[in-house]
Amino acid sequence: MTAQELRTMYVNFFKERRHQEIASASLLPENDPTVLFTTAGMHPLVPYLLGEKHPAGKRLTDVQKCVRTEDIDEVGDDTHCTFFEMLGNWSLGDYFKQESISMSFEFLTKYLNIPVERLAVTVFEGDELVPADEEAIEIWKSLGLSEEQIYRYGREDNWWGPAGQTGPCGPDTEIFYDMGKPKCGPNCGPSCHCGKYVEIWNNVFMQYNRKANGELELLPNKNVDTGMGFERLCMALQGKKSNYDTDVFTGMIAKIEELSGHKYGVTEQEDIAMRVIADHIRAISFSIADGQLPSNVKAGYVIRRILRRAVRYGYTFLGFNEPFLCRLVSQLVDDMGEFYPEIVKQQTLIERVIKEEEMAFLRTLDRGIRLMDNIMAKSAETKIISGEDAFVLYDTFGFPIDLSELIASEKGYTIDLEGFQVELQKQKDRARNATAIESGDWGEFAHCDNIEFLGYDCTELEGVQLTRHRTVKAKNKTMYQLVFERTPFYAEMGGQVGDTGYILSESGEKINIINTIKENNLTIHVAERIPADCTESFSLHVDT
Ligand code: SER
Repeated sequence: MTAQELRTMYVNFFKERRHQEIASASLLPENDPTVLFTTAGMHPLVPYLLGEKHPAGKRLTDVQKCVRTEDIDEVGDDTHCTFFEMLGNWSLGDYFKQESISMSFEFLTKYLNIPVERLAVTVFEGDELVPADEEAIEIWKSLGLSEEQIYRYGREDNWWGPAGQTGPCGPDTEIFYDMGKPKCGPNCGPSCHCGKYVEIWNNVFMQYNRKANGELELLPNKNVDTGMGFERLCMALQGKKSNYDTDVFTGMIAKIEELSGHKYGVTEQEDIAMRVIADHIRAISFSIADGQLPSNVKAGYVIRRILRRAVRYGYTFLGFNEPFLCRLVSQLVDDMGEFYPEIVKQQTLIERVIKEEEMAFLRTLDRGIRLMDNIMAKSAETKIISGEDAFVLYDTFGFPIDLSELIASEKGYTIDLEGFQVELQKQKDRARNATAIESGDWGEFAHCDNIEFLGYDCTELEGVQLTRHRTVKAKNKTMYQLVFERTPFYAEMGGQVGDTGYILSESGEKINIINTIKENNLTIHVAERIPADCTESFSLHVDT
């Protein structure tokens, strides 16, 4: 069964059982400022689980896009992903345990033809607040599961709900697929990480609202919230050892092989790089399609970090030193566009945004990696990179600290993270104490709002007009800012270092450009002085 068939079969199964199909909500939670991304299928439904009436009714089903980044460092192994899909069905005060468990069982055994012996389930064993879920145990037994297939676990494993926070919660029963390997030891069971058991579905019986004081109050309705990890289910059904060997990913991995000229399955490092890229391109593209552009803050920063991580893996292990992620979007559209029309509609935007980000980061990466080599050579004896050095990479070159750690660890180095935090704090203090910047008025020479950026094609430009300039004073320093009608200089935001180089006037005046920044959509060249004659035309030269 292909991934696409599975999505359709799941949704149809529940539609036939009077569930209304709802579209996946955005990856960016609209009404929840506490999280940056939609992290589970039930997330967009929280208000309805708490009692609000859902316009589509009391029985719902969907396939929800999710992003989780807590385990991003594990991505590249067999199963971790930052982007994943969750198949779900919900009862908002309609059916409860009996029907929920029976439907799950029927779907797995009759529609997916999983033999009963290949299932194992876990149920809540009870604690001082809530008794053991005997009802769920009895239902599983009545469906034909033996005592050995039913495991009783505590709150850690069989309770879903916001740990330490308020919100809907309740005991759950998790369904595992037994991969058929022998048990790794006498205590081996669904909670063991040996790979024998793969969790495929979670049925949560949401009947409580956790209050701020930890008290559990009964919800107005008894609800069911189920979530099935789509990629893992595909892995189990297609008999693969890894998510990345299923047809969810094989098209993308083949595309990465084609573009890189490297083969999957030859070296571990290259395989990891291909998996990282195959995963990250999904998180990046779907986030952009939902309106989140890479940036320096919040969700935008997470996306930027994921993107930079993918570029770095491609650059180091697969020899990509030109933008390549943008060339994978068409494959993603082929693989997933049928189910998610937003990526078809937004394909051009996604490609353009990714390409720009890649261009910018590849330049930074190149400079940063050279700097990192120098830093490592300097600390060859201790193999510890100082907090100050790590901070320069972070602050000046936009290297997320985890990226520096990754590069360092590959060479057997560690980073003094405490020292890094000290530098970070110092910077925050400096920013707080910084006196206001005093900007002079712009002197305009020619009107031009849209600066054409041409740095993808060239690093030099002739015959360019200066459109405006101004003088800026910060503390005791005076700087000069120049804006041209067109430029090959790449600008950075948020205090990072952009391109440097020089400009040359027709009459031969040479002025160094010490940085390029972006402000209010203007590409501003920070110059050592203002040209003597601003009406001449200039040639612009970027340091390469
Ligand atoms: N809330 C549960 C989960 O995310 C079931 O959807 O696993």
